[in-house]
Amino acid sequence: MKSSMLFTLASAASTVLASTPTERISMAPKGFNFDFTVGAAYFMTNEASGNYLVSSSVGADGKLTLYEAVYTGGNGAHGLPAPFGVDGLFSQGSVGVSPAGRFVANVNAGSNTVSVHAIDISNPAQLWPIGKPVSSGGEFPNSLAINKAGNRVCVVNAGAVNGVSCYKFNLSQGLTPIPNSIRSLKLNQTTPANGPANTPSQVIFSADEKQLIVSVKTGNGYLAIWDINTDGSLSSTFSTVSGGALPFSMIYIPGENAIFIADPGVGYDVFNLDSTKAKTATISVPVAGQGAICWSTYSPQSGNFYLMDVRNSIISEVNVGKSLNSTIVKQYPLGTDGPLDTAVATVGKHDFMYTLAAKATGLTVLSVGGPGNLTVLQRIDLVAPAKAAKLTINSTNVQGMATFIG
Ligand SMILES: *[C@@H]1O[C@H](CO)[C@@H](O)[C@H](O)[C@H]1NC(C)=O
Ligand SMILES: *[C@@H]1O[C@H](CO)[C@@H](O)[C@H](O)[C@H]1NC(C)=O
Ligand SMILES: *[C@@H]1O[C@H](CO)[C@@H](O)[C@H](O)[C@H]1NC(C)=O
Ligand SMILES: *[C@@H]1O[C@H](CO)[C@@H](O)[C@H](O)[C@H]1NC(C)=O
Ligand SMILES: *[C@@H]1O[C@H](CO)[C@@H](O)[C@H](O)[C@H]1NC(C)=O
Repeated sequence: MKSSMLFTLASAASTVLASTPTERISMAPKGFNFDFTVGAAYFMTNEASGNYLVSSSVGADGKLTLYEAVYTGGNGAHGLPAPFGVDGLFSQGSVGVSPAGRFVANVNAGSNTVSVHAIDISNPAQLWPIGKPVSSGGEFPNSLAINKAGNRVCVVNAGAVNGVSCYKFNLSQGLTPIPNSIRSLKLNQTTPANGPANTPSQVIFSADEKQLIVSVKTGNGYLAIWDINTDGSLSSTFSTVSGGALPFSMIYIPGENAIFIADPGVGYDVFNLDSTKAKTATISVPVAGQGAICWSTYSPQSGNFYLMDVRNSIISEVNVGKSLNSTIVKQYPLGTDGPLDTAVATVGKHDFMYTLAAKATGLTVLSVGGPGNLTVLQRIDLVAPAKAAKLTINSTNVQGMATFIG
């Protein structure tokens, strides 16, 4: 309660500075008791006229209740060319959560900035801005990574000035740029970025946090890898690992020095980064009915990966074996949802999947229920609540999904 009050004072000060747009807009249903929620899920509107983080409470049953929209202090953007599709930033990881640091970070592609918000102690759906957004060190930032300790953040930019940039983080000062961490990807790009090909897709820390990895979709895809020095600065140049066609979202395979990657040019790729083991370097696996498999997530409960195909509105569940061989466990048609960014949260012993249903301008909540047993638990419409709250939410622009439990 005490820290909530401190955040309230800090927020009151920033409300005075920000004239338009509105700092916060309630989207909570009247009379809903938020005392019994166990966590929250966050995505962003990514609107050019003002980017808002939209938070929803997670109940003990895994279901969502919309809470509010908070102005990020920056603008969203949509990549080129027109007509615009539902994949505005060509990326995964535009919104990130640090459980250890208890904060949410997001990119503002239209302002070339990164914002951070503290997660309230008593209500995880309540966010408090920490300072002002900071420069992303380039143009059209589209993805960010947070280390496990929750005191480092790195961003990748996809525009004319593209590449990575890293920051120290603490709750009192927010983000502080780390010297010698702005590094170019040397892509010939424009601002806004022209994609999806020829753009970076996601930035992640390696499992040991000694390297920074960016997936780049070029037709002949690759990972760009920088070494991270002890002071947080980056090696001046990057090394590359080739593979896949349009490598998009990345997830480390538990217990392996290998990355599972959604690839809309193929289906998915498995990149093996451990040259000491006799495993194939990179394997690209076609997925039946592949339309645009770009986003992915992993469930500890099922031990499986899930691929989101936005074009055909299908989730494919994949199991990866010890020798990095893999099989498609099951495919789930999702009607007209059009799944984009997705996050899995563990509530008690159960995993739930929170998906941005871009084509439906909504959210889809699924219950993992063990291997091969994914079921839709809840669908939330965003159109009517946004209209009632006078908040612009457009299916072609919405991006990001991250959760916090605790
Ligand atoms: C927060 O980070 C800034 C910049 O690195 C630093 O100057 C400041 O001392 C830190 N504050 C705390 C409380 O750690
Ligand atoms: C960059 O791309 C533009 C547009 O395709 C092209 O005209 C230009 O020659 C390229 N520049 C370089 C240095 O490759
Ligand atoms: C991987 O290969 C092993 C040995 O052939 C097999 O037992 C296992 O089921 C396979 N796993 C997957 C996920 O295909
Ligand atoms: C499938 O998951 C549901 C919960 O979503 C659970 O009630 C059911 O027992 C599970 N079925 C199997 C066969 O594991
Ligand atoms: C949604 O955004 C797209 C551009 O991203 C624009 O063309 C379209 O008119 C917008 N739709 C509404 C209802 O505002």
